[in-house]
Amino acid sequence: MSHYQTSYRHAIEQPEAFWAEQAKRIPWFTPPSTILEYDDQGHARWFVDGEMNTCFAALDHQVAEGRGDQAAVLWDSPVTGEKRRLSYREMRDQVARFAGALAGLGVTKGDRVVIYMPMVPEALVAMYACARLGAVHSVVFGGFAPHELAVRIDDAQPKVVVAASCGIEVDRVIAYKPILDEALSQSRHRPDACVVLQREQSRAELTPRDHDWQALVAEAAPAECVPVKATDPLYILYTSGTTGKPKGVVRDHGGHAVALHYSMEAIYGMQPGEVFFSASDVGWVVGHSYIVYGPLLRGCTTLVYEGKPVRTPDAGAFWRLIEEYDVKVFFTAPTAFRAIKKEDPEGRRLEDHDISGLRALFLAGERLDPPTFHWLDDLVPVPVIDHWWQTETGWPIAANPLGLEAVPTKAGSATYPVPGFNVQVLDRDGEVAPANTQGSVVIRQPLPPGCLTGIWRDPQRFHAAYMAAYPNCYLTGDGGYFDDDGYLFIMGRTDDVINVAGHRLSTGEMEEVLGSHPAVAECAVIGIQDALKGQLPVGLVITKDGFDGDETALEAELVARVRQTIGAIACLKEVLVVPRLPKTRSGKILRKLLRTIADGEEYGIPSTIDDPASLQEVHEQMRARDLGQSSQARPAG
Ligand code: COA
Ligand code: AMP
Repeated sequence: MSHYQTSYRHAIEQPEAFWAEQAKRIPWFTPPSTILEYDDQGHARWFVDGEMNTCFAALDHQVAEGRGDQAAVLWDSPVTGEKRRLSYREMRDQVARFAGALAGLGVTKGDRVVIYMPMVPEALVAMYACARLGAVHSVVFGGFAPHELAVRIDDAQPKVVVAASCGIEVDRVIAYKPILDEALSQSRHRPDACVVLQREQSRAELTPRDHDWQALVAEAAPAECVPVKATDPLYILYTSGTTGKPKGVVRDHGGHAVALHYSMEAIYGMQPGEVFFSASDVGWVVGHSYIVYGPLLRGCTTLVYEGKPVRTPDAGAFWRLIEEYDVKVFFTAPTAFRAIKKEDPEGRRLEDHDISGLRALFLAGERLDPPTFHWLDDLVPVPVIDHWWQTETGWPIAANPLGLEAVPTKAGSATYPVPGFNVQVLDRDGEVAPANTQGSVVIRQPLPPGCLTGIWRDPQRFHAAYMAAYPNCYLTGDGGYFDDDGYLFIMGRTDDVINVAGHRLSTGEMEEVLGSHPAVAECAVIGIQDALKGQLPVGLVITKDGFDGDETALEAELVARVRQTIGAIACLKEVLVVPRLPKTRSGKILRKLLRTIADGEEYGIPSTIDDPASLQEVHEQMRARDLGQSSQARPAG
C-alpha cells in the first residue's frame, strides 16, 4: 500500500488514534485526553479537554523554538511601493502590544472583534491579537459594501471594530472609514470603540468613538496569551449561503491548529523556515488558513501580497515574487492565471525570472479548468495541483498530497480525498453512486479537526444546511464523481451559490437586492460561464404591472443597486427586463433551465412548465444581448 493509502485508511478507520498523533505536533497548555466526542446532535468535537492558544502556538512557541530572528511575515505592496519584513520576535511583540491595546478597550475572552482591513501586516497582527486574548475575530473582506459590513456587525455583535483608513485597488484608493461609518449607521449593534490604522494614501477623520492604532499601541502594555479550550471559537467567517443572510462559519482553536499544521506538512510538503505564498486575501478562508495561520503554525514564513496578478505592474508579478522571496510553494485561484494568460499568452514574463526554488503550484477557489491546467503544466517546471475545499472545511478535502506522496495528476480532477475526509458521492436516494456517475458529494461523519463547529448563533441553520440531507453525512453543496482510479472530479455547486473570480457569491442574495426595488415584481439571478472569471451573475427581472418607466434606465439602476448593497465584488453587470420568466405550474422559476440556455447547451422543455412560450422569449432576449453562450443553445429534438 502507498504512503498516501496507509495514511488515508488509518485516518478513516482509527480517527482518534490518527488525530491524537497529529495533536502532539502543536504545543498544549493541557494536552487533550479525550480526542473525539460527539455533541447532542451527533457533531464531532475534537480534543475537548485540551487547553492551548493559537497565537501561542504560532508565535511565542516558535520564538521559544529558536525562530525569533526568522522572518514570520514578508509584506510586498506594489500598490504603495512598500516592502516590510517582520521576524517572529517582532511579530510576537507587536501582537502582544496590540492585544494589550484591545484589552484596554475592554476586550476579553469570548468577545467578538470585527476586522475590516486590506492586505497589510497589521491585519495579521489584529487577528493574532484577538486569538491571544481568546477573543473571536470576524474579518470582513474589503470589497464588501456598507450593507454587508452592517449585516456582519449585527450578527457578530463585536465589542470593537478594527479598520484601516483605506484599501488600495489598481486604479483607485478606497476610503474604508466612510464605509465603516455608513455600516455603523445602518447596523443596530453599536461597538464600544473602533480602532483605525491610518494609511498615508487616505487618512481618516476620527470621531470620539475612534482610536488611532499607533497612539493606542504606544500606550499599551503587552498582553500574555490566554489559555482557551480547544473547542473555544477562534473566529467567525461569513460566507454566502443560498439565502440573503450570510452564514457565520465558526472555527475552533485546537482542531484548527492541528489540522492546519498537518496540512502544511502532508499536503503542501512545507518545512519550517521555508516561504509559503498564498495570493488570496485575509477576508477569505484561504487567507485565514494559508496566509495567516497555517504557515506560522508550521514555523514557515508567509508572504503577504497587496497587489493583483496583473496590472501591479504587469503579468510577471507572481514570477517576480516567487524569485525575490524564494517561494517554495505557491497557491492562488485559477482565475488569477486566466488573467495572466490573457495578458501574456506565451508566458514570456516567466523568462525574466528564476523560479527554480519553487516546488509546487496549488490552485483552489474554483475548479482548475483543463485549458488553464494544460497552459500552466506546459509553462511551469513543477507539479500543478488542483485541490478542493470550502470556507466550511477550512482546509483541503481533496488534493494531491505532495508531503505524503506526489501522485500523477489528471486534468480537471482534485485528485484524492485527503486523510481525515471520508468523501462519498451519493445518488438521489442516498446510495453510493458507482464510479463515473455524478452525484452529491458528501463527507461522512466525523468531519476531521479544523472543520466548522457551527453557524454563529444559528444551530438550526447548521443542521438544516449541512446535516439534514443524508444521515451521518455533511453535505458539501458540490456535485461530482469518482473515476475508475478513485480520482475525484468536482463539477460545480448543486445550490444557488456561484463562483465569480474565485469569490463565492449567493444568487439568492442578489435576488433579494433586485426584488427590493419598487418597480420589480419578480426576478432570477443566474450564474453564466465566463472565460476570465469562471462565472458571472446575470439578473432577469419582471416589472410590476403599471411600470411605464424606461427599461434601460431601470436595468442600469438595478446594476448600481447591487454594487452599492453588496459591493463591486458581486460583478453583476447585466440585468435584463423580461416580460415573463419560465416557471413550473406550481410557480417555481426554472433557474436551472435558464442556466442551461446561458451555457449554450441543448435543453429539453419540461412537462411541468406553465407557459413554454416564456422560455423561448427569454432565450431570444439572452441571445440578443449575447449573454454567455446563449446563441448556441438549442431546444432538444
Ligand atoms: N476592496 C475593494 N474593492 C475590491 C477589492 C477589495 N479588496 N477586491 C476587488 N474589488 C473590486 C475591484 O476593484 C473590481 O471593481 P470594478 O468593478 O470597479 O473594476 C470589483 O471589485 C471586481 O473585482 P475582481 O472580480 O477581483 O475583478 P478584477 O478585474 O479587479 O480582477 C482578477 C480580476 C482575476 C485579477 C482578480 O479577481 C483576482 O486576482 N482573483 C483571484 C481571486 C482570489 O484570490 N480568490 C481567493 C480564493 S483562492
Ligand atoms: P469558498 O467557501 O469561498 O472557499 O468556496 C467553496 C466552493 O468553491 C466550493 O464549494 C466549490 O464549489 C468551489 N471550489 C473551491 N475549490 C474548488 C476546486 N478545486 N474544484 C472545484 N470547485 C472548487
